[in-house]
Amino acid sequence: LKEPASRTITEDGRLMLARMAKEGIETAWDRYEAQLPHCGFCELGLSCRNCVMGPCRIDPFGEGAQKGVCGADADIIVARNLCRMIAAGAASHSDHGRDLLEILKAVSEGKAPGYTIRDEAKLRRLAAELGINADDHGDLLSLAGAVAERLEEDFGTRKKAVSFVKRVPEKRLALWQKLNIVPRGIDREVVEMMHRTHMGVDNDWKSLLLHGLRTALADGWGGSMIATEISDVLFGVPKPVESSVNLGVLKKDQVNIVLHGHNPLVSEMIAQASQDESLLELARKKGASGINLAGLCCTGNEILMRRGIPMAGNHLMTELVLATGAVEMMIVDYQCIMPALGDLARCYHTRMISTSEKARFPHMEHREFHPEGARELAYQLVKEAVENFPNRIAERVYIPVEPVKIISGFSVEALLEAMGNSLDPLLDAVKNGLIKGAVGVVGCNNPRIRHDFGHVTLTGRLIANDILVVDTGCAAVAHGKAGLKQLKAAEKAGPGLRKVCETLSIPPVLHVGSCVDNIRILVLAAALANSLGVDISDLPIAAAAPEWYSEKAVAIACYAVASGIYTVLGVTPPIMGSRNIVGLLTSGLKEVVGATFAVESDPERAADLIIAHVNSKRKALGLS
Ligand code: SF4
Ligand code: FE2
Repeated sequence: LKEPASRTITEDGRLMLARMAKEGIETAWDRYEAQLPHCGFCELGLSCRNCVMGPCRIDPFGEGAQKGVCGADADIIVARNLCRMIAAGAASHSDHGRDLLEILKAVSEGKAPGYTIRDEAKLRRLAAELGINADDHGDLLSLAGAVAERLEEDFGTRKKAVSFVKRVPEKRLALWQKLNIVPRGIDREVVEMMHRTHMGVDNDWKSLLLHGLRTALADGWGGSMIATEISDVLFGVPKPVESSVNLGVLKKDQVNIVLHGHNPLVSEMIAQASQDESLLELARKKGASGINLAGLCCTGNEILMRRGIPMAGNHLMTELVLATGAVEMMIVDYQCIMPALGDLARCYHTRMISTSEKARFPHMEHREFHPEGARELAYQLVKEAVENFPNRIAERVYIPVEPVKIISGFSVEALLEAMGNSLDPLLDAVKNGLIKGAVGVVGCNNPRIRHDFGHVTLTGRLIANDILVVDTGCAAVAHGKAGLKQLKAAEKAGPGLRKVCETLSIPPVLHVGSCVDNIRILVLAAALANSLGVDISDLPIAAAAPEWYSEKAVAIACYAVASGIYTVLGVTPPIMGSRNIVGLLTSGLKEVVGATFAVESDPERAADLIIAHVNSKRKALGLS
């Protein structure tokens, strides 16, 4: 067995992996090693299963087959595969956004007791932005219904552009118009992507990739943006909040309920139920001193940002959390939930609950959430978790570390408020060089990269060089565990950034949310570009996904680049089989959308690339 320290840089991860190895419990790292060596054709993107004349594969050494049965060459096959990844990623974020719209609609019709409009001001701002006249709607619920319906139209085929392209800086939008990649309807672009990649449709790798960018933009400025904005309306716009992170957030003397997945619809209801006096009383009767909620992955990020609920870990910690033996119930919704979890939980007393009509898992009990009965079901599940507390086997409980303190909750609104409702303090800090630039460090974990090493190393280098970091997803959890989300982390920043952090009382690494909340970065970048009268691609900003693994991450990276943001990937996407496509994505795109990808698995070298990029953008803007 491999040394735990070679798998993760985190203390909780190392200690737990050592214990799991001793107990013979398998993890994603073990299964990853069992898969090695990976198929070389698939790694290069050179295998195709799009029809059953194949499967086909292209010989990368030029000796064997150079074309599939249909005649598709390496460029076509790589492009089609990449485009299908984008479509799947965009579909996932956008379907999540649609689920929120359906709840908003149900709230407006009085069919979702337990849910409510928690941020009226945001709803009114959105309505005004969408051109809905509040005076035409007698009450707030009717206005909410109108907003839901208007945004539901963004999914269809009747519009020329999704609503939020209004937020795109003028120059950027003009560029998209010229390239014909303005996203029209969210579902439409995804469906068209699947159509184009069917055998015998689009066989020009450049035109495939252009539509790939349009599909990704339908995610970033469409589905993901809807998910974030409507979550803010239903559950509140995040404000700075203190909390804590790592396996130590689980409590020995309390009922632990872990919430995992991506959509806040279920977890928000559980959070409400866990405060119910009668359930707290029941917990005490069962010998527990309280009911403790903890999050995982992006569901964790959602309830951390809005409620300060502690975060147990990121993607690669999801199995390790169960091995504490201290979890009474894990409740999952969808996305990034390893199908291994249910089986692993059978080693413990943990009850595993799946909740979404769309997402079922082996060895989990399925208790489906629907808006009408969500409140009752949440109450029932928390009750069952409490009743499971006496089944915990005390000798098996192992919570190896103390939690680390963090500050979360930096929505764009909250950031603006911290700056006195103006972008000027940030712009001034960038202009006078206190802050050199800003970088979004985002994305997942992947057993190909030592757990959290990519995130923490890159971010440490960036802040030391006076570059402000904003983060989401699993990257945010990694930074939190490393202590970078505390005010005192300003000590690790360069002198300029440190000064800004101390003046504004913010950490140098700002948590802006879950993966759909990457759009908060887009919104902020667009606002900065607009106030300077430049394009997003002119700003001294960049993005990085040092440990990404998912199709959703591919969609995010593509909408970042298509929006003009230079993006560095720490894991190589399956495109290396096409020299043309690698060339386009890493340099040619500069001429097309003003930004490119880079692939760099060494986070130190990734930091060098980003620092050089930020400096070149500063120079072009006439800043020193
Ligand atoms: Fe082979 Fe073409 Fe079918 Fe792909 S689409 S499996 S390359 S014949
Ligand atoms: Fe996520």
